[in-house]
Amino acid sequence: METLKLAAVGLGYWGPNLARNLDELESAELSWICDRDEARLARYGARFPDARKTTSYEEMIADPELDAVAIATPVVTHFELAREALLAGKHVFVEKPLALSSALGEQLVALAEERALVLMPGHLLLYHPGVAKLKDLVDSEELGRLLYVYGNRQNLGQIRKDENALWSLGAHDLSVILHLVGEEPAEAWARGESFLNPGVEDVVFCYLRFPSGVVAHMHLSWLDPHKMRRMTVVGDRKMAVFDDMEPERKVTVYDKGPQQPAETWGEWQTRSGDISIPKVANDEPLRLECEHFLALLRGEGDRIAAAREGLAVVRSLEQLQSSLERERV
Ligand SMILES: NC(=O)c1ccc[n+]([C@@H]2O[C@H](COP(=O)([O-])OP(=O)(O)OC[C@H]3O[C@@H](n4cnc5c(N)ncnc54)[C@H](O)[C@@H]3O)[C@@H](O)[C@H]2O)c1
Repeated sequence: METLKLAAVGLGYWGPNLARNLDELESAELSWICDRDEARLARYGARFPDARKTTSYEEMIADPELDAVAIATPVVTHFELAREALLAGKHVFVEKPLALSSALGEQLVALAEERALVLMPGHLLLYHPGVAKLKDLVDSEELGRLLYVYGNRQNLGQIRKDENALWSLGAHDLSVILHLVGEEPAEAWARGESFLNPGVEDVVFCYLRFPSGVVAHMHLSWLDPHKMRRMTVVGDRKMAVFDDMEPERKVTVYDKGPQQPAETWGEWQTRSGDISIPKVANDEPLRLECEHFLALLRGEGDRIAAAREGLAVVRSLEQLQSSLERERV
């Protein structure tokens, strides 16, 4: 099998994790690392001694041997860097969100489609075995009819000045919510506050309503006593929780649901049955995500299906952002 040559761009907070996973892929090699910052490049140069190093993105994508780039730079740069790489005939993995607007995202999808190149945004949670378990529970209707979903993402990640909590944290939960519900929201409402950096919301509450009637809520915050990465899914038969802060019990299923026993004369009660913990593989989601990218490069699967999903996330983020701006006091 031909060894594919990959490049990691952006070696800040997240990029080195991506570079490490790309470097460990079988039948692929990390042939370039690139960062505009000389000091970062020098630091990671020692960790990836076989990769060529450059501060010039243009020099790197001009390499005819290079097959694909993985971009982990700030969101404002995603569109330009992904576009340049696609124009140079390179496959692209780009960190979430795909772009700053759906109009820009659409241009990237069209370009990738036209050139038959892979375009994959890094929605890491979609490769998490715990999320795959939730999806099975929803699709198999083990939870019954899906009623609502809510995500908590609090006290995590870098407090950013160039991106609010909706775009930075919400991109994760939204990707999971859209994946589970299988629709795009008909209505989106958001309200937030900027306690630290003026105009950059650090606490955001969102409410989404889908055409099927399913609703979703997200609590996104950098300021919170609780460190939470949790998704709760409520069906009319059972309920499930994916908690990524739990080392072992990633998914818990509650045999709990509404019922109207005859003796209550039509009054609703909550039925409580067993609580179970299904087995969830302990695989590193980032490794699975990188393996998926490699499989796409090898021609397995739809090359831009993930990009379309990423575009739907950007569309929902835009809807929520407009609501946030309308509601600003
Ligand atoms: N999937 C996840 O869980 C996850 C987690 C954190 C961050 N991210 C994403 O990763 C991306 C980067 O975030 P971060 O926190 O690592 O940012 P960061 O600011 O820490 O690092 C960005 C790096 O990119 C470099 N850079 C900027 N412009 C460049 C260019 N034109 N060419 C080459 N290098 C350039 C900077 O010098 C810096 O080293 C963002 O899209 C973010 O949303 C994803």
